[in-house]
Amino acid sequence: MSLKQQINPDKLPQHIAIIMDGNGRWAQKRGNNRVFGHQNGVAAVRDTVEAAAELGLGYLTLYAFSTENWMRPRTEIDALMSLLVSTINKETKTLQDNNIRLSAIGDINSLPKSVGKYLKKAIMDTKANTGLVLILALSYSSRWEITNAVKQIAERIEKGELKAENIDSNLFESFLNTAGIPEPELLIRTSGEYRISNFLLWQIAYSELYFSDTLWPDFRREHLYEAIISFQNRERRFGKTSSQIKNVNVNS
Ligand code: FPP
Repeated sequence: MSLKQQINPDKLPQHIAIIMDGNGRWAQKRGNNRVFGHQNGVAAVRDTVEAAAELGLGYLTLYAFSTENWMRPRTEIDALMSLLVSTINKETKTLQDNNIRLSAIGDINSLPKSVGKYLKKAIMDTKANTGLVLILALSYSSRWEITNAVKQIAERIEKGELKAENIDSNLFESFLNTAGIPEPELLIRTSGEYRISNFLLWQIAYSELYFSDTLWPDFRREHLYEAIISFQNRERRFGKTSSQIKNVNVNS
């Protein structure tokens, strides 16, 4: 049975988030510069996105550029930004052909004008698509997002529009960039690193974590299938006991 056939279509995660890591090491292993790794990472993005759409996932979030990535050498940042522009332009047709809607989270206004312009255009162009929602996390970090949410809530309180006693987790979530997006059930990180790196800290409270040794440019749909199969073989308890989940004997 192929890996794809081993996936139970009735138990698919609705939302998968991926920390795409290992581009630099992939390039360095080949005696090349880091940008070469990012360029080759695009093929992994394409295959993963196509596979996710084909499987019928609802949401796929890719951590493409973190707030902390602004501290990288200028040349690498510039190369990543132009890669983003060219990929978004080149791939908008693929998004249309696969009924994929593009979306973004992060401090989009901090991106270079050209990135913002083409990103917003691709988001507009794919707005009516009803299949997979592809969310690019760009200039994103969880602490930035959470701090922002706290500021907005504080402003509402200052203006008398909100009472502190009315703050609960649903209200808090409505101030996050991901408002309206279901939490990822599965978080994948590539390249053999076991870190979350400031990604969706609030949203992954109950996500299943899957770490792959594969460096991102080598990641293909089979790796995604393996992660989903692993996810489907886990018992998600959300703080309850195993028997409560299986509904066997709720008192044991
Ligand atoms: C992490 O590898 C990867 C990134 C910071 C950038 C990811 C970007 C792409 C795959 C390019 C295009 C993306 C889209 C969505 C069009 P790293 O540089 O941290 O690798 P290292 O840990 O080996 O140094």
